[in-house]
Amino acid sequence: MRAGADGFLGRRPGRRDRRRPQGVAGGDSPLRDHIYFGHAFKGQHGARALLSRFVEGGGTLLDLEYLVDADGRRVAAFGYWAGYVGAALAVLEHRGLLEPDMQRRSKADLDALLRQGADGPVVRALVVGALGRSGRGACDALVAAGIEPTRWDLAETRDLDKAALLGHDILVNCVMVSSPAPPFVTEEDLDAPSRRLSVISDVTCDVTSDLNLLPIYDDITTWQEPVREIRPADDASGRPAVRMIAIDNLPSLLPAEAAATYSADLLATLLTLPDGEVWQRARARFALALEQEGLSAG
Ligand SMILES: NC(=O)c1ccc[n+]([C@@H]2O[C@H](COP(=O)([O-])OP(=O)(O)OC[C@H]3O[C@@H](n4cnc5c(N)ncnc54)[C@H](O)[C@@H]3O)[C@@H](O)[C@H]2O)c1
Repeated sequence: MRAGADGFLGRRPGRRDRRRPQGVAGGDSPLRDHIYFGHAFKGQHGARALLSRFVEGGGTLLDLEYLVDADGRRVAAFGYWAGYVGAALAVLEHRGLLEPDMQRRSKADLDALLRQGADGPVVRALVVGALGRSGRGACDALVAAGIEPTRWDLAETRDLDKAALLGHDILVNCVMVSSPAPPFVTEEDLDAPSRRLSVISDVTCDVTSDLNLLPIYDDITTWQEPVREIRPADDASGRPAVRMIAIDNLPSLLPAEAAATYSADLLATLLTLPDGEVWQRARARFALALEQEGLSAG
C-alpha cells in the first residue's frame, strides 16, 4: 500500500472524491487515509472539523506526530535540527551577528557563520534537556561555534542551582515537559545582582502552555523579528539586557538537513505500512481523538 503524491493511501477515492483534491488544511471534502501533521489530537482550533472530514470519508489521520515505538518514543522528529538552529541563533545574537529575515541555508553555511568570533572572549552556554534530540543538536551547534556547553538534563534540574544557571551567558531550553515543574527562570531571577545571563533561546516554545518553564515572556518570536528584549540593561549594576529567541519552526532554516534526517528516520516505519505496530498505535490514537471529540468512526 503506497501513498500517492496527493497523500492518499491505498484505497483510491470513489467518484465523489475524484474532484480535484482540496487541500487537507482549509478544505471541506471528505478525507480518506492521510499521513501528515494534522495538529488535531489535542482539541486544537479546527480539530473537530478536520476529524469530521475523516469520519465522512471513511479515512484515518495517521498523524506523523504520533508515530511512536513500543516505549512511546517518536520514530521520527525534527528535534535535532531545531536544537541546532536554536542554539546557533543564540550564539549569533550574543556575538551581534543575528540579522532579521535570515534565509534558509545549508549547515555548512551556518557553521561558517558560527565560526566567526569563535576566537573571542569565552562564552558560557547552558543547554537544558541536553540528552534529548534537540538538546543534542544544541550542544553540537555550540561546539561548532567553539563553545563547550554545560549540559543539564533531569538529574541536574531536580535541585535547581539558580546561581549556576544565571552565571551562564546563554541558555538554550530544549526540554520536553509533560507535567508541571518549577520554572527554570522567573522575573525575580532576572533581577539577581549576579546575573550574567543575557540571551535565552527557548527551543521548547511552550510559552502559551501551562507547562511553560520560562514564564518571563508572553509570545513567540519570528524569523522577521527573531529576538525580543525582555529586560533592558541596568547600567548602574552592570547587569546586561536579556534577549529572548523563541521561534517555533527552527528546522526550516536548514531544510535539506532537516528533511534528510526526518525521511531517513521515517523510512523503516513507512515500509511497515499498512499494519505494522507503529501504524496500529497511530490508528488507535486516531480512534481516541475521535472519541475525545465525541465523533464516531461509523
Ligand atoms: N521550536 C521548534 O522549531 C521545535 C521543533 C521541534 C521540537 N520542538 C520542541 O522541542 C522540545 C524538545 O523536543 P525533543 O525532540 O528534543 O524532545 P526529547 O524528548 O528528545 O528530549 C527532551 C529532553 O528534556 C529532558 N527533560 C524533560 N524535563 C526536564 C527537566 N525538568 N529538566 C531537565 N531536562 C528535562 C528529557 O529528559 C529529555 O532528555 C519539545 O517541546 C518539542 O515540541 C521545537
